Amino acid sequence: MDAISVIRTKRDKGELSPEQIDWVIDAYTRGEVADEQMSALAMAILLNGMNRGEIARWTAAMIASGERMDFSSLSRPTADKHSTGGVGDKITLPLAPLVAACGAAVPQLSGRGLGHTGGTLDKLESIPGWRALLSNEEMLSVLDTTGAVICAAGDGLAPADKKLYALRDVTGTVEAIPLIASSIMSKKIAEGTGSLVLDVKVGTGAFMKNIDDARELARTMVGLGTDSGVKTVALLTDMSTPLGLTAGNALEVRESVEVLAGGGPADVVELTIALAREMLDAAGIKDADPAKALRDGSAMDVWRRMIAAQGGDPDATLPVAREQHVVTAPSSGVLTRLDAYDVGIAAWRLGAGRARKEDPVQAGAGVELHAKPGDTVTAGQPLLTLHTDTPEKFAYALESLEHAWDIEAPGTPFTPRPIVLDRIA
Ligand code: URA
Repeated sequence: MDAISVIRTKRDKGELSPEQIDWVIDAYTRGEVADEQMSALAMAILLNGMNRGEIARWTAAMIASGERMDFSSLSRPTADKHSTGGVGDKITLPLAPLVAACGAAVPQLSGRGLGHTGGTLDKLESIPGWRALLSNEEMLSVLDTTGAVICAAGDGLAPADKKLYALRDVTGTVEAIPLIASSIMSKKIAEGTGSLVLDVKVGTGAFMKNIDDARELARTMVGLGTDSGVKTVALLTDMSTPLGLTAGNALEVRESVEVLAGGGPADVVELTIALAREMLDAAGIKDADPAKALRDGSAMDVWRRMIAAQGGDPDATLPVAREQHVVTAPSSGVLTRLDAYDVGIAAWRLGAGRARKEDPVQAGAGVELHAKPGDTVTAGQPLLTLHTDTPEKFAYALESLEHAWDIEAPGTPFTPRPIVLDRIA
């Protein structure tokens, strides 16, 4: 077996054999296949695709590159959720404690933001004292005692994916559906969850800009999960405009706590409850009412215990950025579009995100929305507030917002896009 023949097979639109896939993933993880060879293969996969059998084998080989976790000692069924990433997507924060309050165990291995999409761990790290890095034993203990844990995946879980994802990120090969599907599902299957709900985002602020690509990604992932014995369901959800009224780390924690306190923006509450129902159903819990668990404070109780168990102070004051800049509506009328991607780029440029994996993020930076698509606005009223510790970044962030919205004549009819666009089971 050698790397060049594997690359040539895919370059010439051939099917990779199971032996070729097993060998190339293992040899790449061990450093025998060089980064430049793997990037050539990733580009050939991006251009020529893989069939379902190849994707399944690729995923299995990535799982086999590391350890598998085991939650069979827990008394509750496990349910996990994975979002393909968006702007203002803080759903994991209220969702994990909510589903735990309804009777499931929620092992939520999460990531950091890269580019314009935020990362759950960056958001939670704005809570003073909170720790993302737990040993496997600590993770199991938090999960067992509180019902939910949100933490970073350990180095032992699918190490082939860790290496390959970093390579794809710098070689323009992230957007290949077989590679995205196998990357996400290898980690989820290795994690050992019994059931999984995928939130596949569609729209300008998502990886998948159109619904057909999102459906193909969702079907591929649901197939991989199901074939591995993980009960898997996907919701396709709208990411044409930011979720909720905030994009940024501490800003999104604050909004998540509002949801857990029974308030918060309607779209965040609707999606949180829709995903909670799917997770509970997939975990076989039939008689729970997630809307009630938000109203009666039981989800908030789990949140407080979960944060404290990871060293965080749930009562601590969250960081606030040193400087603010208000963007006002230039005219009166109906806000018919507020673009998720543009707002995500602005939040990133203000310091909420990072350009390279090792960059620090600002806890208080981000964008606050004062209106959502469908709202009537008056010229001069605040539309957005930009937050940062580094005011020299305002001009750069404002550039990304130049074409971020449309305000049409007063009375223009507006049909809201549903949040949940489709369901794939
Ligand atoms: N998230 C992942 O974990 N992997 C991808 O390839 C894309 C998003």
